[in-house]
Amino acid sequence: MTDLLIRNGRVVTAIDDFMADILVRQGRIVAIGTELDATLTEEVDATGKLVFPGVIDPHTHVGWPGAADDFVTGTKAAACGGVTCIVEYALQFKGNSLHDSLGAWHTKADDRSCVDYAFHLVISDFNSRTRAEIGEIIAEGVPSFKLFMTSRHSGGLGVNDGTIYGVMHEVAQHHGVVNLHCENDDLIEFLISNFRDLGLLTPEYHARSRPPIVEAEAIQRAAFLAGVTGCTMYVPHLSSGLGLDVIRSARARNVTVHAETCPQFLVHTDEVYRRADAVNYVMSPPIKGETDQDTLWSGLAAEEIGTVGSDHCPYDSTRKREFSHDFTKIPNGVPGVETILPILYSEGVRQGRLTLQQLVKVTSYNAARTFGLLPRKGSIAVGADADLVIFDPQRTVSLRGEHLHSNIDYSIYDDLTVTGYPAMTILRGEVIYQDGKFVGVPGYGRYVPRRVAETVPDVPEALTGAR
Ligand code: URP
Ligand code: ZN
Repeated sequence: MTDLLIRNGRVVTAIDDFMADILVRQGRIVAIGTELDATLTEEVDATGKLVFPGVIDPHTHVGWPGAADDFVTGTKAAACGGVTCIVEYALQFKGNSLHDSLGAWHTKADDRSCVDYAFHLVISDFNSRTRAEIGEIIAEGVPSFKLFMTSRHSGGLGVNDGTIYGVMHEVAQHHGVVNLHCENDDLIEFLISNFRDLGLLTPEYHARSRPPIVEAEAIQRAAFLAGVTGCTMYVPHLSSGLGLDVIRSARARNVTVHAETCPQFLVHTDEVYRRADAVNYVMSPPIKGETDQDTLWSGLAAEEIGTVGSDHCPYDSTRKREFSHDFTKIPNGVPGVETILPILYSEGVRQGRLTLQQLVKVTSYNAARTFGLLPRKGSIAVGADADLVIFDPQRTVSLRGEHLHSNIDYSIYDDLTVTGYPAMTILRGEVIYQDGKFVGVPGYGRYVPRRVAETVPDVPEALTGAR
């Protein structure tokens, strides 16, 4: 392993902002200071650059069956966007044990991933056997689970409220977290069948069959179940202001609810579903209106929304277009793992919506805290993994497909040019991306077992003294 000295960077963490050198040995940060001297050390000149903790994307589907990326291509794209760790959703298919399901995702990832990775485990088949596995799985380093409250777009993985209650009850005994895809399946089915009767099946009606109430009602129901079971709950891909209102009221009842939003909800509005290439934007939940977008930005600024995940799950546009006559058949999901940091810096920090500290909180620190990756990941501190992004705040890049690295033929940000871009990504002391090119090695990424997280709600005060 190369020793590395990163000189003269502006180091930004969730709580700090200072000029320093960073010395890395054996993949870990061993010193942070000024004018550090070290012999036999490779140097990186970070003058004029920001140095952030490597991005943690808490929401990827690079191993999702049928999607365009796999663990090699998806994590290459991640590295090129400053992401050093992903938390991937491993799926339990009906009839399989939880251990076998995790084993299947290890087979996809081990010796192939370009960045470090951990797993959330999607439970689709909850019975006495799988219930008994939950405590073991948490003890083995997977303290977060996911339940789909919808099933259509996710291939029948959806569960009923009894299962949500049962899983939450069990997970709470072992101090884990339950992530929920919050959309009311019955409402969606009802709206779809009405639109079908009227012959309204273009992609626009995908969004119309999933209005904000669909998300908000499901969050509300899940939050009541989290409250009675004492379970910590995480809402991935929050897309609506109404959803955030419901989260606020659950927190007022002392339910611990963490919230994540995605860059696509912060940059686009539901106007995209009227574009000629609307099919490329079909995902669940769908992108909402301008008021929702404003509320999500202010929720991030108020630190009510603690994390930003990509929900990276890309399908080629040809595959999506095949079903443009019937939105119910369009494969759901978009690319995004590579563009989290540049979008949040350019549209967030540069537009005065987020501070640099908030940028770090939402792109790494809070995910590390919520999902038990601290103290190794999510910070720049002596003893932490040397997962770093050397970020050029002046570099201007168009987010067109040809500049991105996912194995997909389109970008959902063709019209967006950002200012501020990763110049280098360092994973455990090794440079894996530099000046527009992936320079790492598939298989260098390692599995990261996690600990049970601190149950700290996403409110600003919570950070004080948390480290
Ligand atoms: O449309 C989406 N979000 N696809 C990925 C799978 C999921 O539901 O999170
Ligand atoms: Zn997802």
